[in-house]
Amino acid sequence: MTRAIEVENLTMTYGTLRAVDDVSLSVEQGEFVGILGPNGAGKTTTLETIEGLRRPDRGSVTVLGQPVWPRNAGLLPRIGVQLQASSFFERLTAREQMHTFAALYGVRTSVADDWLERVGLVDKADTRVEDLSGGQTQRLSIASALVHDPELVFLDEPTAALDPQARRNLWDLLSGLNDSGRTVVLTTHYMDEAEVLCDRVAIMDSGRILQFDSPSALIRRLDAPARITVAPGQLQLDEARRIDGVDEAAEGSDGVVLVTRQPTVVVSRLAETDQLDGVRVQTGTLEDVFLDLTGREYRA
Ligand SMILES: Nc1ncnc2c1ncn2[C@@H]1O[C@H](COP(=O)(O)OP(=O)(O)O)[C@@H](O)[C@H]1O
Ligand SMILES: [Mg+2]
Repeated sequence: MTRAIEVENLTMTYGTLRAVDDVSLSVEQGEFVGILGPNGAGKTTTLETIEGLRRPDRGSVTVLGQPVWPRNAGLLPRIGVQLQASSFFERLTAREQMHTFAALYGVRTSVADDWLERVGLVDKADTRVEDLSGGQTQRLSIASALVHDPELVFLDEPTAALDPQARRNLWDLLSGLNDSGRTVVLTTHYMDEAEVLCDRVAIMDSGRILQFDSPSALIRRLDAPARITVAPGQLQLDEARRIDGVDEAAEGSDGVVLVTRQPTVVVSRLAETDQLDGVRVQTGTLEDVFLDLTGREYRA
């Protein structure tokens, strides 16, 4: 099967700044891929080059088996693009925007109306875009990127301006698209989002892709110990240290914290001695992976 995306040795520079530095990656059709990284990592530049909006300085990009540069009009109906900075037709209402996008793609207006509903903008259909809130604008820009039911969807920080409710709704919507076979590529600042949604995550910093794998594989490779917190009063520190599999134990603000590489062994031992009440287990997260790879705080 043709790959959805094939990027080989892509380099993009702005003057002397190397915004994208020799990036290669490929995405299979039907995958849900996230590009995760701090501000300035090169996510938008990478995405816009894959979308065919920028000419690669070096390297090559193919999408659905076709080169994206020079601008490939045949690809446009097959891909959906939500840009980081949304752009709309001036002075039109939300509904008119959607109808205009629908007309451009030869899609029925009823489909455009359905999309207003799906992103929760029916109440705002008669509002001009300049009067929409940040989150509403973002939802409209997502709907306009999806109205023609593209095979391959690009979203640049689609949840950045959304409240938690709208964020969850968008997660459901994107998961649904992906379940029905669409390929989705998004950039995000949110580790939890990448972990929940993505089959594979590219961790990007300073123009480079540091790792590209499934969240679980990234976390497994990190081999971070689990932390088990036992509620206060359940367990003495010296007793905790004698439990098989416990590497370290310390008194924390909400109980005794056990550090272990064998969480199942430790938890079953706590169960045997009836000390499971209020126990919390934290395993490694993508955030731990990020910190390990970049060696510094995540700058959201
Ligand atoms: N049009 C531009 N002109 C000059 N520098 C730019 C331009 N766009 C982006 N950059 C710089 O390129 C780097 C990567 O930017 P960008 O791709 O937007 O990263 P991200 O989307 O991960 O925040 C940043 O250092 C940014 O300041
Ligand atoms: Mg960006």
